[in-house]
Amino acid sequence: MSHPNLIRLKKHVEQAVGQFLNQWPEGVGDGLYDPIHYLMQLRGKQLRAVMALSAAEAEGQHFSEAMPVALGVELFHNFTLMHDDIMDAAPIRRGKETVHVKWNENAAILSGDAMYTLSHIALSELNPSYVPAALKLFNRTALEVCLGQQSDMAFESRQNVRVDEYLEMIRLKTSVLVAASLALGAIAAGSSEERVKIWYELGEQLGLAFQMQDDLLDTFGGDAVGKQIGGDILSDKKTFLRIHAWENGDDAVRQTLRNWDGNRTDPVSKIEAVRSSMIQAGSDTAAKAVMTTQIDRAKACIDQLQLTEDHAEWFRYLASLVTQRDS
Ligand code: IPE
Ligand code: IPE
Ligand code: MG
Ligand code: MG
Ligand code: MG
Repeated sequence: MSHPNLIRLKKHVEQAVGQFLNQWPEGVGDGLYDPIHYLMQLRGKQLRAVMALSAAEAEGQHFSEAMPVALGVELFHNFTLMHDDIMDAAPIRRGKETVHVKWNENAAILSGDAMYTLSHIALSELNPSYVPAALKLFNRTALEVCLGQQSDMAFESRQNVRVDEYLEMIRLKTSVLVAASLALGAIAAGSSEERVKIWYELGEQLGLAFQMQDDLLDTFGGDAVGKQIGGDILSDKKTFLRIHAWENGDDAVRQTLRNWDGNRTDPVSKIEAVRSSMIQAGSDTAAKAVMTTQIDRAKACIDQLQLTEDHAEWFRYLASLVTQRDS
């Protein structure tokens, strides 16, 4: 993570987030905003905000035109994490205790709701002529993320989830927000509907590869991930890895997967057994092949946008970062 644009734009995002949240300080409102400050200060990669600003720049505008949408998508993203960690019973986020563990579930629910509202307040600072289009996309996206999260949970108790169902589930829970980040950045720059659509398609492909990498890191990642490794396996998440191993593994692999399904009695053994089965079935290699196709499609969108070479180079860098990151 060392491209000059990344360092530059992240700095602006951090400043803007700090300034924005000063309006809702820690300690007031019986601590309603405390978990928001906690999670936002742990920062994360801030890729969605950086993408929104980058799209506006690539469309010929100053990044500040897109700061309201950048803040909007970043706050919305963090709200989804706060609630996602309750749903996934996740103990660790960004290397620290999750909000529902540090406080409690009610605090994570309500502060999450507050953060969702803050994302709309941030977005409403956009140039008024762009607000209707931006709001329409933002709200459609929010609803789609809920649909994706619902499928993600429903799939936990299903054995026969297909790859196409998985891809649609991650498109909804993850891709649409990455896509909206780029599209909103372009909207904030006054781009044509036709170009906004290409930005959206670019984000959709990046988002799919992003979630597949997230799934790989959840199972095979190291300390840098900052989350509990093996959490997806423990919850019987139907990731590409899990579906591929089930569909392509030999009898022993299928037997292992069947045996551990719904079983949380011995987490360490379960994670180890399922992970080995995935490797044996070649599921990690197969996942990377799918991701390569998605990144190739993303690069075709970058070409289609006919950006100046420095912007094109930056987006190609972002595309490779999605699949090469270790956190
Ligand atoms: C995690 O998103 C949730 C997913 C959609 C995979 P990020 O990996 O962008 O999380 P942070 O914001 O950088 O911590
Ligand atoms: C998260 O998917 C998608 C959303 C938050 C909407 P995950 O559940 O895989 O994200 P992490 O791994 O907890 O960050
Ligand atoms: Mg989840
Ligand atoms: Mg999760
Ligand atoms: Mg994950």
